[in-house]
Amino acid sequence: MLKLTSSDIKKTVFEALVIPVCEDKNIYEDLALSSLTKKAMLHKEFRGVKENELILYNLTEIAAERVMFLGLGKADKIDHELLRSTAGKAVRTCIDKDLAEVVIAVPSADALHMDVTTMIEAMLEGACLSNHIFDMYKQEKKQSVLQNIHLLVTPDTASRHKYLPPKIETICRGSILARNWVSMPANDKRPEAFARLIENEARKVKLKIEILDEKDLQKGGFGALLAVAAGSDSKPRLMVLEYDPRSAKKSLVLVGKGVTFDSGGINIKPTEGLDGMKTDMSGAAAVAATLISAARLKSGIKIIGVLPLVENMPSGSATRPGDIVKTYAGKTVEIGNTDAEGRLILIDAISYAIEKYKPDTLIDLATLTGACVVALGEKIAGIFTFDDSLAAEILASGQKTFERCWRMPLPEDYKELLKSDFADINNMPGTRYGGAITAALFLSEFVGNTRWAHIDIAGPAYSKKAGAYCTAGGTGFGVRLLCDVLDRL
Ligand code: BES
Ligand code: ZN
Ligand code: ZN
Repeated sequence: MLKLTSSDIKKTVFEALVIPVCEDKNIYEDLALSSLTKKAMLHKEFRGVKENELILYNLTEIAAERVMFLGLGKADKIDHELLRSTAGKAVRTCIDKDLAEVVIAVPSADALHMDVTTMIEAMLEGACLSNHIFDMYKQEKKQSVLQNIHLLVTPDTASRHKYLPPKIETICRGSILARNWVSMPANDKRPEAFARLIENEARKVKLKIEILDEKDLQKGGFGALLAVAAGSDSKPRLMVLEYDPRSAKKSLVLVGKGVTFDSGGINIKPTEGLDGMKTDMSGAAAVAATLISAARLKSGIKIIGVLPLVENMPSGSATRPGDIVKTYAGKTVEIGNTDAEGRLILIDAISYAIEKYKPDTLIDLATLTGACVVALGEKIAGIFTFDDSLAAEILASGQKTFERCWRMPLPEDYKELLKSDFADINNMPGTRYGGAITAALFLSEFVGNTRWAHIDIAGPAYSKKAGAYCTAGGTGFGVRLLCDVLDRL
């Protein structure tokens, strides 16, 4: 449980009190906290510089069993992400020490010239996101998460921000749900099983659930989606989750790429390329988790999640390079490369969603291209849209949540690269240069006049290394971003 507390640290017994400390300035108005900070600075090994850590036990002036000081560095360099990471580190250290609770002091907003709400939000997020262990597949569970996380603030701040802990906890639970799905191995989340996993969670918040199976997809004419699924003996699904609050004035469709394993198909990937391809459903995971969080938060917007779920495998029944298929929209596609499968399942899902729901805005989330990782690295997502206001909204959410995004261009003349000699369009561009852009342009051919953005999360969806508030594995990227976008639409 996340909580704000303003209880007296001199009297209240906590297992651990964590105090973030600056190297060049006292950042606490509270006298007990500032004198504890001074005391910490008397120790040679602690200067308050970044990564600095000091733990003192059984202090007489305070009831906590241990006080942990974490260095923040210089005051003018501190931003919300550093606070998020510091809170994350505090929680991780307490988990490592096998504790059950922590109290983290929130520095004075005035001292840091920051907005107090932003500070609390960031610290709640970092702490909550860090309080997660993926040990579903370990026989021996070596660690457990903390039972209670408190942020220490003034009584006035606590009462003005009462609404925040449950809100942040709901959103971060969504991120963690997505992380777990992404980290899960592909043998336990083949399309039908993954649909059931999502259904179990979606039921809890009373989302409307519709699942189209292979027969429905055949009848419906989802030729592009079926072409990707053709090689697998696990049958595809198109899952639709609907959150429809009464009196909603706006509607949003979220489409998430749900390739539960991307082998590349007949254009099979080399060994290095196959590594991590169980995470090719990260878009679908983030979209499903966002809907679940949005329902818990009672968002005022109608949101429809459309999840094409397939496994991309080579076999005797698999689609061949050069095959031509008819999409849901009626256009024909030459499948120049079976490894460019994400765009194929997305266009059928997008066409279906636009026809059926006529949304005001449509955003798709996909681990779409290796080229996007080359362009922006592993921590930044690419945003593609013709709509400047939608770009601005997503970029602002990216800054606020630190799920970083960078807008990429959609040059009209690059569409030439998608020409096919035999069909209306080719899924394989004529060059590998600009691969993230040509993939987005391919999608753009199927969105009509709908206000649309595509977010390529191939880089940030997954991390091989643990970060300050995320263990190695799925990151849940997109859930906090999209939950924040909802407030801006
Ligand atoms: N799932 C991959 C993209 C990907 C690559 C995600 C690395 C995460 C990490 C996608 O389906 C793919 O294989 N794309 C190809 C497209 C190409 C064949 C046009 C790529 O990026 O190489
Ligand atoms: Zn692929
Ligand atoms: Zn893929």
